[in-house]
Amino acid sequence: MEEHLFSKGRTSVARVVDDWYIVATSSELGKSPLRTTVYGIPLVLFRDGTGVAGALLDRCPHRNAPLSLGAVKQNVLECSYHGWRFDTTGKCISIPGPSNEFKEKDRRVESFQVHEENGFIWVYATPDREPPREVFRFPFLHEQKYTTIQETLDVRGSIHATAENALDVPHTAYLHGGLFRQSDGEKNEIEVKVNRLQDRVEAEYIGEQRPRGVAGKILAPGGGMVSHFDRFILPSIVQVEYRLGESSHLCITAALTPVEDFRTRIFAVMSFRTPLPDRLLSFLLKPIIMRIFRQDAAMLEAQTETIRKFGGEQFQSTQADVLGPEILRLLRMAERGERGGNQSRETRSFHLFL
Ligand code: FES
Ligand SMILES: [Fe+2]
Repeated sequence: MEEHLFSKGRTSVARVVDDWYIVATSSELGKSPLRTTVYGIPLVLFRDGTGVAGALLDRCPHRNAPLSLGAVKQNVLECSYHGWRFDTTGKCISIPGPSNEFKEKDRRVESFQVHEENGFIWVYATPDREPPREVFRFPFLHEQKYTTIQETLDVRGSIHATAENALDVPHTAYLHGGLFRQSDGEKNEIEVKVNRLQDRVEAEYIGEQRPRGVAGKILAPGGGMVSHFDRFILPSIVQVEYRLGESSHLCITAALTPVEDFRTRIFAVMSFRTPLPDRLLSFLLKPIIMRIFRQDAAMLEAQTETIRKFGGEQFQSTQADVLGPEILRLLRMAERGERGGNQSRETRSFHLFL
């Protein structure tokens, strides 16, 4: 990248490869192989004859043909160029013609552990490794009292920028003015408790009023107390949880996948419990949520483009930028293979349009 007068020459990209990411929903992976990337690394996903999903590096060891151009034949993935065949563990199980000059390890493909559960296909991002941890489990997914909306969305931004955006409170009154919060009227004194744990950080907002925009009115028509938590969980889970009044509970959880360093796929699970009928609630809330999302996606793209133009980024944070620096700290630690560290709590107070 060319040097720029104002360039900081750095970006907040962290590659946490020793963890699980969602690469597709179960319904996206049918009989044909599916091509995707994690941190820009090409992968091929496919199901063997019994329906079990596998993930291999998308490169045939014979002549570099993408295996994703192949097809599943007799239970295994067949390369479309010369017909080498691979099982879900990456083992080459047949080569047309003479094959005894190859050692088994030279003709196998790096494979990634796959875990399919609740309609999501997860891949552990380091090949040929036994994962030391389990996949994240979405709360409320199958709880009867909750309505759940699932969405898959793509944004042009790093994991750090996307996670910060999802959990950032101060922008909501501006970028989404009127939908959720608004920047006219009075600011409120707000207190935030920041709780740092081994693999996560949580912000709890104290003294928050019901958001004055339309979404708040739909969720809690009678007003009432608000309890609000924002969480980031390694490697890339973001969660916003609201309790409004007596009977409304809303928990939006998203697993972010680093398709490339500056491209993130968001697998969102939004669960609601409110006094309103499910269908009415989905009907009212979904357009608002999607509008908020489009505003965020446009801003992330604009930020990414600015970082690209300047060859790097700059950050000047205030007390109100609660989770962005914490997320980056966790990502950098995890990238170095250091999870854990000191647990701590902190309380901050500042004025905000809330
Ligand atoms: S490139 Fe795959 S079989 Fe030749
Ligand atoms: Fe937003």
